[in-house]
Amino acid sequence: MKPILTRRNFIQKAAQLTGSGYTAMTALNLIPASPAKALSLEGHGQGKRIIILGAGMAGLAAAYELGKLGYQCTVLEARERAGGRVWTVRRGTKEKELDGPEQTCQFDEGQYFNGGAMRIPHHHQSVIRYCRELGVPLENFNNTNEGAYYYCEGGKGELANKRIRQRELHNDMRGYTTELLAKAMDGQALDLPLTKEDRDKIIEYLIAEGGLNANKLYKGGSRRGYLTPPGAYEQSGKMADAPALLSLVQAGYADPYFYNVAEYTYEQQNTMLMISGGTDRLTDAFVKRIGKKIVYGAAVKEIRKGENGARVVYTDTKSGTEKELLGDFCICTIPLPVLSTIENDFSSNVQRAIDLIPYNNTCKIGLQFKRRFWEEDDSIFGGMSRTNLDITQIVYPCADYLTPKGILIGCYNYGSSAERVGNLSLGDREKLALEQGGKIHPQYRQEFEKAFSLAWQKIPYSLGGWALYSPEARQRYYPALLQPEGTIYFAGEHTSYLTAWIAGAFESALRTVESIHQRAQKQALN
Ligand code: FAD
Ligand code: ALA
Repeated sequence: MKPILTRRNFIQKAAQLTGSGYTAMTALNLIPASPAKALSLEGHGQGKRIIILGAGMAGLAAAYELGKLGYQCTVLEARERAGGRVWTVRRGTKEKELDGPEQTCQFDEGQYFNGGAMRIPHHHQSVIRYCRELGVPLENFNNTNEGAYYYCEGGKGELANKRIRQRELHNDMRGYTTELLAKAMDGQALDLPLTKEDRDKIIEYLIAEGGLNANKLYKGGSRRGYLTPPGAYEQSGKMADAPALLSLVQAGYADPYFYNVAEYTYEQQNTMLMISGGTDRLTDAFVKRIGKKIVYGAAVKEIRKGENGARVVYTDTKSGTEKELLGDFCICTIPLPVLSTIENDFSSNVQRAIDLIPYNNTCKIGLQFKRRFWEEDDSIFGGMSRTNLDITQIVYPCADYLTPKGILIGCYNYGSSAERVGNLSLGDREKLALEQGGKIHPQYRQEFEKAFSLAWQKIPYSLGGWALYSPEARQRYYPALLQPEGTIYFAGEHTSYLTAWIAGAFESALRTVESIHQRAQKQALN
């Protein structure tokens, strides 16, 4: 019989939920996780000239490492800031999407949200290593919060269109599924060669895992929370009855939007980390070390691999003049949808990879509120609420608890939801985030102050969230980006198996620095 969930569609489903197929592919052991390798190279760059295109994490790390080895680097950056997709939106931040008006962030001083990267898996050693080396402080990012909500719209039955706490769904689904399995084990319905002792042990495990009673039935319990919590004197705590499994299923809570992604996927398991004060602190730390090498407002328009070196033509966006730079080597970290618009003399294999590797759409909308009602009224400290509506998730801040105001990421979505939201005007995006989020938190109406919204597929010099490889694109097009085109090397998250992560940018930069250094050392010997 054909399996219902094939490997391919498991990867696709997980990509929709997490924004990246990487997660599912590591779960299936198809690719390795981020290694902990530090560069340890011998020899000196002898001042060879390296042109680096883009001052995102890949470009900054490459310039930093090459600088240590004695190369002379120039980083051409189209924007007036470094960091690329590592970027924090604060008061005064400006952005203008392709077809939109300019937004200027009006949040209060000190309020911010991470418009790009916000969380770091505890096993992304390359990121943690740079934080240590550059003195960038890390703290906990609580990615999971059993007290946050799920909200499914459009289902049927008693739970239809009602928000529920994540702990309720998790424990109910775990309880009912372990009950079914315990029954199947009892009735010897599973075709397994088990002794009675093995069977008893597994049943005991299922009872503990699912919170089943002595009759191996799931009847709810304190794990799923209280209607009235335990307190002093007579207040022993009043629990709600667990809804029937069918009620959960009919209301839509067994749909993929509500899979327990954050606990199960390798990238999102506890402990997750974040950079204290905003992810742009990491950008700042690199800029402090290599700032003089960065030319801002330098929009690359032509890349030529040349016979003995690279030639890059760029527009100085302030004066509108065209300039040329020659180097011994070039590292191009420009995201592929942007690179696809730049003139070049690359081989057809590379050109195909640039044009055909797909990128994900993704939006984030920051909402400033007068008070932290999610903390005060709902006891939510960090984590995310999730919904099948287009906003997809609400991300709660996990810093500055109990302070008067706060910013929620009132929409963080991917794929077709992000396409729909991104196609709205700024005003309509704000309206949608308030209307849909208001179904989870009715306090929105009273407490909202200001919004700032980003649709990455429309942001110049990014034109997408991150590379989203299908297994076919990985096999067909990816290899072309791993080889240099003469003197031009490619780096950036899209040239790694850690797409959608800072670690992908770092690992690719380190690999490229190593390759260039080895080649330059060989040239020096000849
Ligand atoms: P970029 O950061 O895109 O750098 C490329 C640089 O090239 C940019 O500075 C750009 O301005 C410049 N450039 C582009 N065109 C030109 C041109 N023509 N001329 C000159 N310069 C040019 N990662 C995590 O680890 N954790 C997360 O929580 C996380 N969340 C994310 C959420 C969102 C919404 C997004 C969009 C990304 C997220 N990521 C996350 C992914 C992470 O941000 C990226 O993988 C990483 O920052 C990519 O770095 P990069 O150097 O490869 O590319
Ligand atoms: N890596 C990105 C995130 O953590 C997709 O949200």
